[in-house]
Amino acid sequence: MIRWLEPHEVTAVGSVLGLARLYQGNGDYLVDWDGGEPRGHAHVAWTDPPELQDLEVRSEFRRRGVASSLIAAAEAACRRRGSSQLRVTVSTRNDHARALYEGRGFVDAGVPPRRVVGTIDIRTGPIEVDDLLVTLEKRLGEP
Ligand SMILES: CC(C)(COP(=O)(O)OP(=O)(O)OC[C@H]1O[C@@H](n2cnc3c(N)ncnc32)[C@H](O)[C@@H]1OP(=O)(O)O)[C@@H](O)C(=O)NCCC(=O)NCCS
Repeated sequence: MIRWLEPHEVTAVGSVLGLARLYQGNGDYLVDWDGGEPRGHAHVAWTDPPELQDLEVRSEFRRRGVASSLIAAAEAACRRRGSSQLRVTVSTRNDHARALYEGRGFVDAGVPPRRVVGTIDIRTGPIEVDDLLVTLEKRLGEP
């Protein structure tokens, strides 16, 4: 079952998943639950167009369609808010994620790849990054 993260669930979800964008301030987390067990999450930033971020599925629950369901839920939420497209950036090193997004109809957005180098602050502390990100997008149909 997928639903928006509630404040009282942050401790339980954050103990098994990253919630890296929790304090970013411009979006919400969708969480996939199996009973009381959080299996994966995705952050939707309410930018224009909205962006899917921090898609993560716990290793023991992978290849069961959890990420696909989270992406579908994000698409539906964006449609309900009147958005006609959804974007995602993915590292050129992450073939698995790229296969996942392309399998769900995301295509190259035509935006030049962006190099991200330096220290970024996430919920669990600062991390060093050196990455090349490509932007993919999906046109969303009617609700
Ligand atoms: C990438 C990730 C989110 C996929 O989650 P998932 O729940 O296993 O994905 P799904 O089961 O919905 O996979 C759907 C399809 O995506 C592709 N895919 C997903 N994981 C894959 C892998 N490890 N290798 C190859 N293809 C993969 C396949 O086409 C898969 O369909 P199939 O299982 O029928 O072959 C998960 O591996 C993860 O959390 N990785 C670490 C974090 C990360 O890279 N996030 C993406 C950031 S952009």
